[in-house]
Amino acid sequence: MSDEATPIGEQEVPDLTADETGLPDFGELTPRQIVAELDQYIIGQDDAKRAVAIALRNRWRRRNVESELRDEILPNNIIMIGPTGVGKTEIARRLSRLAGAPFVKVEASKFTEVGYVGRDVESMVRDLVDVAVNLVRVEREDEVRDEAADRVEERLLDLLLPPVAAGPVGPDGGDSAERRFLVGAEGQAASEEAEDPQVARRRRTREKLRGLLRDEKLEDREIEIEVTESALPMMDMTATGMEGVDWNFGEVLSDMLPKRTKRRRVRVSEARRILISEELDKLVDMDEVVDDALDRAETMGIIFLDEIDKVAGGAGGGGGPDVSREGVQRDLLPIVEGSTVQTKYGLVTTEHVLFIAAGAFHVSKPSDLVPELQGRFPIRVELESLDEADFVRILLEPKNALLSQYRALVATEGAELEFTPEAIEEIARIAADVNQRMENIGARRLHTVMTTLLDDVMFGLPEEWSDGQTIRIDAADVRSRLARIVEDDDLRRYIL
Ligand SMILES: Nc1ncnc2c1ncn2[C@@H]1O[C@H](COP(=O)(O)OP(=O)(O)OP(=O)(O)O)[C@@H](O)[C@H]1O
Ligand SMILES: [Mg+2]
Repeated sequence: MSDEATPIGEQEVPDLTADETGLPDFGELTPRQIVAELDQYIIGQDDAKRAVAIALRNRWRRRNVESELRDEILPNNIIMIGPTGVGKTEIARRLSRLAGAPFVKVEASKFTEVGYVGRDVESMVRDLVDVAVNLVRVEREDEVRDEAADRVEERLLDLLLPPVAAGPVGPDGGDSAERRFLVGAEGQAASEEAEDPQVARRRRTREKLRGLLRDEKLEDREIEIEVTESALPMMDMTATGMEGVDWNFGEVLSDMLPKRTKRRRVRVSEARRILISEELDKLVDMDEVVDDALDRAETMGIIFLDEIDKVAGGAGGGGGPDVSREGVQRDLLPIVEGSTVQTKYGLVTTEHVLFIAAGAFHVSKPSDLVPELQGRFPIRVELESLDEADFVRILLEPKNALLSQYRALVATEGAELEFTPEAIEEIARIAADVNQRMENIGARRLHTVMTTLLDDVMFGLPEEWSDGQTIRIDAADVRSRLARIVEDDDLRRYIL
């Protein structure tokens, strides 16, 4: 993601602060900047963007309030309501990329009441903590990555330049004489007292190797390293039925069993990868990571509850599952309200976690949710359905716009794909038209229209267009390729 902001309306947005990962620091983004970030991917839906931006910034604001009041300030949970394919989930996805805060997106429809088979609602809090731990660990690892790389370089040199006296013996070959030698090879202290010429030569060789290593000239050289084998390979015991049990037995067991190591011949490039992760493990204090992660999950965490309408009762809901849906809602209540959940890293209180729910509410209405749950989502924003003009913008403007995606795909075959402005308008018109005649599936229609339109091109490349040739698509092409399908009721139903 870029760290440059686009202006909103007339206002110039100040530069976003970017941390070393290149991502803007979430906590520091002002509501305007958050909206600007979202604008790069999502067209329109200003109310929804505003609401989430304010809610996010309020997290940061709350952290800076003096402690007495701080605990009183609860997050303003949001419900986003809008037809299918207009950007609800997309907003969530983009928010999560803004990173910095632990964020999980879960589908409410996946949960079932406690006691039924399926995910229990508390699992989302456990997921949030997992995300937080990873986030903090990566941050810490980035801080010590240089040091780890230095250490790995030394270790690789030790491996590349085995002891002269003995045969091919690794750093931990049992014999004490070899050990002494290795210590000598590693530190300068030993080299000064030992017989100089040989040691000096070794040191020169080592420095030469270091140069080659840094120039990546030795990447394919094979060396033997010691790797820890997981005692229980491939054993993941968090089966669906055991979801409630909060740890992975496999993980616990393998932590308890003694680590087995094994010698493996690998290339330098792979050895570096393995050793780096070993060194990072040593350099990062996991207890600190966990402490920080729990705090972040509690105070900055965001849980996006997608498809919340699927657990709303609703008139057309169809008898049977209603009981269970209401059960899920009732299970959700305490978590949204604030309760303490046991996770494998410790207890987590959800009182200050921000919840953003979203749903199409085709059949059911927000008022079909149990009243207590409605009350816990004080902010409602509606997303508008998209029209032809929006489609034109969606095709062109987002950083990941469909047209750019196809252009990039075609470019890999050495050709160039070009659309005239009229062609783009025609695509938008057809998509809007089909949406009107059949179900309105929002911007998703653009995907189906584009795949149909470019079917021949995608199939014909690379044979039909020579290198460097431009494939130009104008309005007439769009019409001729799509007209037959749009006009034919049956074809339309199946293809678009
Ligand atoms: N406003 C928009 N701007 C840009 N792209 C959009 C917009 N709305 C939808 N899209 C595109 O359409 C696709 C579907 O949108 P999204 O997943 O957000 O739908 P949704 O609102 O969550 O619908 P549903 O209720 O069916 O889950 C996205 O992948 C995105 O590329
Ligand atoms: Mg969605």
